[in-house]
Amino acid sequence: MWKAWFLSFCSEMPLVCLSDFEEYAKSHLPKAVWEFFAAGADECCTRDENLLAYKRIYFRPRVLRDMSAMETKTTILGNEISFPVGIAPTGFHKLACPDGEQSTARAAETMKTCYIASTYSNCSVEEIVAAAPSGLRWFQLYIHRKRTFSEQLVRRVESLGFQALVLTADLPYTGKRRDDIRNSFQFLSSTSLKNFEGVFEGEDRSEYGLPSGSIDPSVNWDDISWLQSLTRLPLIIKGILTKEDAELAVRHGVQGIIVSNHGGRQLDGVPASIEALVEVAAAVQGKAEVYLDGGIRTGSDVLKALALGAKCVFVGRPAIWGLAYKGEEGLQEVLKVLKDEFRLSMALADCPQSCKSQP
Ligand code: LAC
Repeated sequence: MWKAWFLSFCSEMPLVCLSDFEEYAKSHLPKAVWEFFAAGADECCTRDENLLAYKRIYFRPRVLRDMSAMETKTTILGNEISFPVGIAPTGFHKLACPDGEQSTARAAETMKTCYIASTYSNCSVEEIVAAAPSGLRWFQLYIHRKRTFSEQLVRRVESLGFQALVLTADLPYTGKRRDDIRNSFQFLSSTSLKNFEGVFEGEDRSEYGLPSGSIDPSVNWDDISWLQSLTRLPLIIKGILTKEDAELAVRHGVQGIIVSNHGGRQLDGVPASIEALVEVAAAVQGKAEVYLDGGIRTGSDVLKALALGAKCVFVGRPAIWGLAYKGEEGLQEVLKVLKDEFRLSMALADCPQSCKSQP
């Protein structure tokens, strides 16, 4: 009796911070699904460090600077977004909610921010566009061994009005995620990857429901010009952690860099993305836009990333938690929490504009 009352009381309590959404998702998603999204590589040191690193960074707040008005809006590649937090590419949203990426796209459109749709979306790129026709969308790309497939996908997203390509550069092979191996995690046909329909017919489907090793591990800097020759879309490289690679990216004429360690899912032992940000931003010298993903859990984390050189940040797992909570509405709630916390952090640090940190 008491227990039932207590549980119903808890279920009505508002979710006030991202870790409340995380708790909800953890207790409601099937264990293997939760572990798939939560996974880091090997010992998960980098995954965990992505969060811990923010706790070691402190503000130098100013005071008495009239904080009666604040502006959270900013622009990314010339497009306005209502606050500097977008949705990072993650796959398989139908594992979190029935409408999958269509819910994600709608929530991002309503919140006037950018959604980077993953190649590994359960919904097709056409379905994503149909769900939120006026949303700002970028497309995350892997280069597959079947280059004609990658080429067609690039042309497909360009003609559908996606506004940038985000090439993931840190996954020549998939990192070792122990729980997925322990769980023999299998993707069901209800969560198949629509963008690949008809592409790998008759081949084995042992990785993510795709042939294992379907991503081309030979991809290198020469392929950047090949990619640029296929499209007029701006190119962003995701997965850069060093000044050397940041300089190479600039030399190859990319428009943006996402400082990222893939949520700690690839090489364990690389620094937190927030720690790599300063080095990358210094090397880029304003010649491309610099963004970050990995470990953002509060509005003050967003402000720290902006202060250290990011123009905008992207959230991956928190978006999944929102979807697991209440689909489109749940993701909107997650974004609202971050936006409100970000505005309050700006106010308390006496920093009235979010778009001042980069040219
Ligand atoms: C992952 C790949 C699909 O991290 O990006 O699961």
